[in-house]
Amino acid sequence: MCDKLFAAPGNPGIAQHAELTALAVEDHAAVLAFCEAQRIGLVVIGPEAPLVDGLADSLRGVGVPVFGPSRAAAQLEGSKAFTKELCARHGIPTAGFRRVTSAAEGLAALDAFGIPVVVKADGLAAGKGVTVAMTRAEAEEAVREIFSGRFGEAGAEAVIEEFLEGEEASFFAITDGHSVVPFGSAQDHKRVGDGDTGPNTGGMGAYSPAPVLTPLLEGEAMERIVVPTVQAMAQEGTPYSGVLYAGLMLTPTGVQLIEYNCRFGDPECQVLMLRYQGDLAELMLATAEGRLGTLPAPRFADQTALTVVMAAEGYPGTPKKGGAIGGVDEAEATGAKVFHAGTALADGRLVASGGRVLNVTAMAGSVGAAQQAAYDAVKKIDFPDGFCRADIGWREVKREAMRQ
Ligand code: AMP
Ligand code: GLY
Repeated sequence: MCDKLFAAPGNPGIAQHAELTALAVEDHAAVLAFCEAQRIGLVVIGPEAPLVDGLADSLRGVGVPVFGPSRAAAQLEGSKAFTKELCARHGIPTAGFRRVTSAAEGLAALDAFGIPVVVKADGLAAGKGVTVAMTRAEAEEAVREIFSGRFGEAGAEAVIEEFLEGEEASFFAITDGHSVVPFGSAQDHKRVGDGDTGPNTGGMGAYSPAPVLTPLLEGEAMERIVVPTVQAMAQEGTPYSGVLYAGLMLTPTGVQLIEYNCRFGDPECQVLMLRYQGDLAELMLATAEGRLGTLPAPRFADQTALTVVMAAEGYPGTPKKGGAIGGVDEAEATGAKVFHAGTALADGRLVASGGRVLNVTAMAGSVGAAQQAAYDAVKKIDFPDGFCRADIGWREVKREAMRQ
């Protein structure tokens, strides 16, 4: 049980449950001082940047329990080359790759791959460092762009990868470095437009579970990818603790790892949380304290949760800020849950303050029914400067319809 929650920086949504604090997470000394003053019993580090920056190490150094990996373990998300080489050393299935450190080396390495080919900046690039190139010219352009400095330090190195064919699914596991337990699956929608068109985004909607990740394939992902990764990290002296988000490609020849994230995804987290049936604080504290193995396996509602992201016009480019938002209570009165992302209060009124603004989330007995419920709630939201995709869940809704 958690009896007092702080959020830094938080937003008007979480402010209904937590006290907001304007802590700068880059300032580790300030975070430690806050934890001491407030006698904090558990810190949950949500996003990747403070994890890669070693905030978990600083907190553990003074004995504060943390949910989230160390700087060294967060390399699983922070460096694509690190992860590819770990996979290669331990026989974990993933696309063939070359690691390159200059444009010339990158251009030459393209000869070793067919088309399409995938070009990735090594470091954190806020989801913008990956190009799936459909022509050689596009691949060359992507290599040049990475080494042009556009991605800053994230582009000091690049990884060139074989293109994997298949459908993508996201799989989550919680680990304390020894025990590993599955924590559900999801599928997200990365493109901004209906029918998966237009530029990539952080995610315009998601649903959980992902029926394409059958129990058999989930077992394969645990056995061949997630468990060997956790064991390899422990063996190499950088045990991984926290949530491990595996981006998977379900190829005709088996499950392959595309990438790891060292956090819950956004908006995957929202659908997982709606279905999760346990005490999250207890699960995270047990993970932080290395006693995950003493808890029963996490349980989830046997239903589908689906979330529709409402974004501010202009996203994923420059989003329009300050747009008024109404109707959240009316949307929740339908039974849906409206999670806040980029929201703020201006003169006591709810307004948009970022690209992705709200996650309108509903749960029902099928993907189709959850989709209907989520969009019924979306209709109640009054956000004239916002937009959303109209087809979240389409793949699975189509498959459900074909089964009938
Ligand atoms: P990442 O940031 O590594 O997840 O890549 C972003 C997206 O690019 C993934 O979600 C996939 O859609 C695509 N992608 C990345 N690597 C590959 C690959 N080797 N083959 C096919 N698609 C890929
Ligand atoms: N929605 C994908 C992510 O959070 O990385």
